[in-house]
Amino acid sequence: MDIDMREELFHQAKTWVKEAGEIIRNRIKDPLTIDTKSDAKDLVTQMDRAIEYFFVKRIKEAYPSHQLLSEEGYGDDVTTLDGTVWIIDPIDGTMNFVQQKRNFAISVGVFHDGIGEIGLIYNVIDDVLYTAQRNNGAFKNDQKLPTLNEQVSLDKSVLGLNHFWLCENRLVDEKVMQKLVKKVRGARAYGSAALEFAFVAEGTLEGYLAMGLAPWDVAAGMVIVNEVGGVTSNIDGISLNLLQKDTVLTCHPAVHQKIITEYIQKGRK
Ligand code: IPD
Ligand code: CA
Ligand code: CA
Ligand code: CA
Repeated sequence: MDIDMREELFHQAKTWVKEAGEIIRNRIKDPLTIDTKSDAKDLVTQMDRAIEYFFVKRIKEAYPSHQLLSEEGYGDDVTTLDGTVWIIDPIDGTMNFVQQKRNFAISVGVFHDGIGEIGLIYNVIDDVLYTAQRNNGAFKNDQKLPTLNEQVSLDKSVLGLNHFWLCENRLVDEKVMQKLVKKVRGARAYGSAALEFAFVAEGTLEGYLAMGLAPWDVAAGMVIVNEVGGVTSNIDGISLNLLQKDTVLTCHPAVHQKIITEYIQKGRK
């Protein structure tokens, strides 16, 4: 992607993300219409839809040739990553948004011909914006995030993962996963994939492990984590395909392979 074009898209995306965040903050006390999707725990509110529409309208007006891949149905039916594709989660962590009114994020990734060029993750309530442009480093607000290059062992790591890994599941023997959570210094479940990617990038988590994430959960996060030297793959160590759902392991480079070979592979079903 042309550098001037990327700079323009970055500033445009940043402005829109901040505006969308302000809309959410201003309406945080509004009554919510809560609908369910695939099951009773899969929530969507009028705010998820309104924020997605906010982005789709602006992107389609400003960049009619770009494609838009997003969660709530206002985007395109994207079947190829050729050209410029915006990958958007209007609210990542809808359950947190509903139950806690915090700990959720807006996630915007821009890919060009399959390569992640721009990533923005906005922790709306805390007003913290994580950003990255490919080969330009990652930032938390205006502060550049350091590269993840110090040595770190699993027993000094904090890992983001949810409790489903510790219950019987179709992916990995839960006994092996229990060994992993006993090995690490601590485990956390924040309930927003985008924020968990951002925490890996800023070094407050050494890793984040998730089942069945969609492209909009990971697109921005992958760009940001990549810029600090972190590694993202599925649980078999294979690069993610942003046209489908997959398991996800995003990590500090010192622990990524270890988690796969010494734990996940030993219990992989
Ligand atoms: C969800 C959150 C959650 C993750 C789910 C996602 P949503 O996104 O990121 O942490 O465990 O898999 O679907 O639905 O709140 O945008
Ligand atoms: Ca959702
Ligand atoms: Ca999401
Ligand atoms: Ca969402």
